[in-house]
Amino acid sequence: MNNILITGASSGIGAELARSLSARGDSLFLTARSQEKLDALGLSAPSLAIDLTAPGASAKVVESATAALGQVDVTVHCAGIGLIKPAADTTDAEFTQVMNTNTRAAFLLARDACKAMAAAKKGLFITIPGILGKAPMRNAAAYVASKYAVTGLVKCLAQEYQRSGLRFCLFHFGGVDTPFWDNIQMAVQRDKMIPAATAAALILQAIDAPPHLVLSEVVMQPDSHQLV
Ligand SMILES: NC(=O)c1ccc[n+]([C@@H]2O[C@H](COP(=O)([O-])OP(=O)(O)OC[C@H]3O[C@@H](n4cnc5c(N)ncnc54)[C@H](OP(=O)(O)O)[C@@H]3O)[C@@H](O)[C@H]2O)c1
Repeated sequence: MNNILITGASSGIGAELARSLSARGDSLFLTARSQEKLDALGLSAPSLAIDLTAPGASAKVVESATAALGQVDVTVHCAGIGLIKPAADTTDAEFTQVMNTNTRAAFLLARDACKAMAAAKKGLFITIPGILGKAPMRNAAAYVASKYAVTGLVKCLAQEYQRSGLRFCLFHFGGVDTPFWDNIQMAVQRDKMIPAATAAALILQAIDAPPHLVLSEVVMQPDSHQLV
C-alpha cells in the first residue's frame, strides 16, 4: 500500500479517487480549499484546506503530507478550474486566474512534491491536463493554454528526473461527469461523459503499475465527442 497525496480531493475525480484508495487501505493526505467539502467525504485521512495559488501553499502541502504520512510515494494533482468561453469574451482577470490555478499552482506543487519524492529516490507524480492539454477546442483558448502548459512542464520534469526513481503520468481525459461542469455555460451531455469513478479507476491502474514500468500518458474520451 502507498502513501498518497491528493490535491483537489474535495470534489470530482480527486474525491472519487480518495474514496477508492481509502477503501482499499492506502494512506492518504487530502487537500483542497474547502475543509467542509473535505470533511463531507467522511474519510479519516488527514487533510489541509489551502488555496494552492497562495504564496508558499505548495511547500506547506508537501511538508504537511510528509509529516502526516512519513513519506509521500505518490502525488496525484487533481486541483484545477474550468473556463470555457470565446477568447473575445475572456477577461484579463479570468485568463490570469485560470493560468494561476491550472498552470502556476501545478508547477509549484510538482516542483515541491518531486523534490520531496526524489529525496526518497522513488515516487510517482500524476496529473490531469485532460484532452485539452494536447488538443485544441474552440471557446477554450485560456483553459487550453493553461493545460498545454501543464503537459509541457510535466514532460520537462520527466526528463529532469530521468533515472532518479521518479515516474510521471499524464491523464488526457475528455469530459468527465463532475461538478467541474456545474458552472460552465456550454451545452454538454453529462450522461455521455466519462463517469468520475471510471476516471478514478484508470488512475488507480497507473498507481498500481509495477515500479519499473510507467503509464506515461493515457487518453480516454467519450466515443461521441473525440478531439484530436
Ligand atoms: N471534469 C472534466 O471533464 C475534466 C476533463 C479533463 C481534465 N479535467 C481536470 O481534472 C482535474 C479535476 O477536475 P474535476 O472534474 O474533478 O473538477 P472538480 O470536481 O471541479 O474538482 C476540482 C478540485 O480542485 C480544487 N481546487 C480548485 N481550485 C483550487 C485552488 N485554487 N486551490 C486548491 N484546490 C483547488 C477544488 O476544491 P475546492 O473547491 O474545495 O478548492 C476541487 O477539489 C482538473 O484539473 C480538471 O481541469 C477535468
